[in-house]
Amino acid sequence: MSNQNSDLLESYNTLVDTLNSYAKAYYVDDEPLVPDAEYDRLYNELLVLEQAHPEIVREDSPSKRIGATALTAFESAPHRVPLMSMGDIFNDSELIDFNTRLVDLLGVDKIEYCAEPKLDGLAVSLIYKHGVLVRGATRGDGYVGEDITENVKTIKAIPLKLTGDNIPSYLDVRGEVIMTRDGFEKWNENARLNGGKVFANPRNAAAGSLRQLDPKVTAKRPLSFYAYYVGECEGYTLPDDQYHCLLELKKFSIPVNPNIRCVMGLNGLQEFYKDILSRRGELNYDIDGVVLKVNSLKSQSSLGFTAKVPRWAIAYKFPPEEMMTKLLDVEFQVGRTGAITPVAKLDPVYVGGATVQSATLHNADEIERLGIKIGDTVIVRRAGDVIPQVSGVVVSKRDGTQKDIVFPTHCPVCGSDIEKVEGEAVSRCSGGLVCQAQLKQSIIHFVSRDAMDLEGFGDRIVEELVNSGKIKSVADLYSLSVSDLASTVLDKGSEERKTRLLGEVTAKKLIASIDKSRVVPLNRFIYALGIREVGASTARTLAMNFDSIGDLIKADYQTLLSLPDVGPVVARHICDFFLEKHNLMVIDRLVKHDDGFLFSAGIELTSIKQSSNRASAPLLGQTFVITGTLSSMDRNEAKNKLLALGAKVSSSVSKKTTALICGEAPGSKYTKALELSVRVILEDEFLKMLETL
Ligand code: IVH
Repeated sequence: MSNQNSDLLESYNTLVDTLNSYAKAYYVDDEPLVPDAEYDRLYNELLVLEQAHPEIVREDSPSKRIGATALTAFESAPHRVPLMSMGDIFNDSELIDFNTRLVDLLGVDKIEYCAEPKLDGLAVSLIYKHGVLVRGATRGDGYVGEDITENVKTIKAIPLKLTGDNIPSYLDVRGEVIMTRDGFEKWNENARLNGGKVFANPRNAAAGSLRQLDPKVTAKRPLSFYAYYVGECEGYTLPDDQYHCLLELKKFSIPVNPNIRCVMGLNGLQEFYKDILSRRGELNYDIDGVVLKVNSLKSQSSLGFTAKVPRWAIAYKFPPEEMMTKLLDVEFQVGRTGAITPVAKLDPVYVGGATVQSATLHNADEIERLGIKIGDTVIVRRAGDVIPQVSGVVVSKRDGTQKDIVFPTHCPVCGSDIEKVEGEAVSRCSGGLVCQAQLKQSIIHFVSRDAMDLEGFGDRIVEELVNSGKIKSVADLYSLSVSDLASTVLDKGSEERKTRLLGEVTAKKLIASIDKSRVVPLNRFIYALGIREVGASTARTLAMNFDSIGDLIKADYQTLLSLPDVGPVVARHICDFFLEKHNLMVIDRLVKHDDGFLFSAGIELTSIKQSSNRASAPLLGQTFVITGTLSSMDRNEAKNKLLALGAKVSSSVSKKTTALICGEAPGSKYTKALELSVRVILEDEFLKMLETL
């Protein structure tokens, strides 16, 4: 072999080994070594090398995961050792029975258990011969499944080749293929916007993805895997209990859930159940309970199986995150920008830890996709901190009384035409601020904390002020008198109750908060205007680049497009907003004029442009996410402090996040940050950082 060739081979081997070790660190050790972008960069390097030298491609190269051609049908895959199902229990007294039964059968005082989360995905068996993945199969009827080898190979968490010097000659490992919640939400969001396949829940998503005849389709789905059981192992001596068997699998690069525990007796089981249930929402995958297994393999075999299920294991189910209920009606809500959102009014149902009585149906396309009718029995899903969704319709429960949902052609509030832009999923009321719903929402936005921060102006007060005709635009807020406000009705009386008015004391407080807002930084004012797609962070960018609102109004499309974070859609919305005469009139009535324009509210806009340099915006270009409860300030204050230093604050953790600011009892963002190896800053460090900056 020439020197050049051996160099090439060496760098190729290093590349494959490095990529495989990164995948192991991510999926098995739960300790990512590099950001995803670095993995992607090396992976591309690998593809280039392999294309130029196909003769050197290794069987365990990550590129081997995709490539097989589509099948016409799945082959059947018999299981040498059947994949058993499990008995399930739902409450503490059944748990006590389970433990007592086993204590009696084994004739011991206390049993050691291996306690595991019950993953809600699809069971698979993976066979490794001399360390090479040779078959992946579904459970099927437990005895014969389907051969899905090419599909499981596309799942990055599943090693194509086991690692370690000493490996079994034959290994049949069982586990669950899952779709992460993040992956599921992102997938559906994208599918709803671009017309792809929307999944009802991560379990269906995982199952549907694995049953694709074309592995290229499976490869695009965000799937993962955790092993939970060894079916057969030859040529290697595994430890003699379930817990250590699973740990041993990690040595071979097979991922095992980090939340498995060894626990003692009934108490241990009860504590484990409570702990996992309380952390269920934080996990990035669905679980539907815990699985409790007698730890000792010897005890397992002495207990054996009943006709159908093992005596040594039980699934202790959690209250469901999906429930059936009735769709009573559909309301059409009008948002600030006129977007019409159908909202399902449901027969109240307790699901995922809360009572749900309404859920968004997103848009007309979603109604059509679900094929949902009023009076239908529907499935409501509420998992983690995600808002409740209608995930499906139980068509078999129809009795002929169901009625079609008619999407309105006219705004239910103002009667203006509803328009649908070609290629967009959203329908909008064309009424603009003539529409009371849009007017109310735009005022609610204008007074909100990150906008003009008119403290005390709750939604109810705004609604009443609009209903009574006291305000017809945000500018009218500034000409309200104490008596206008004091006489505002808060609660219409009845025969027994007197009508409740806002009263003078509150009215005076509101006037004070209006006065306080007469000097405001330009960015907050821009945000308050409610231009479509202009959130707090874009408003800040605009304010950093224009001295005054007048300069922004004059800016043309090209100038706007040249700003960071401003794309063609946002630039178009900004231009359109300022082309609207009504908007210019309102701005004119709000801001202070040098010529002392008599009818102006006299709002003084302070420029933040000077702070765009590095010294006063030291966090420019950095993105933060905040989670949990901070003890020294609320999340909004923390956010404003970061924004003031030039940072962006986002609501979800991604690869682009600079750091996660983490308070007490953090949510799923914390898990996500760890997964993506995003830096986590605790409150103490955050305070120090603010001080230094
Ligand atoms: S052990 C002999 N462990 O639950 C026992 N199963 O009813 C073999 N499942 O469809 C199963 N998480 O896919 C086991 N930690 C876990 C599990 C688990 C989820 C699923 C499994 C099967 C069902 C059994």
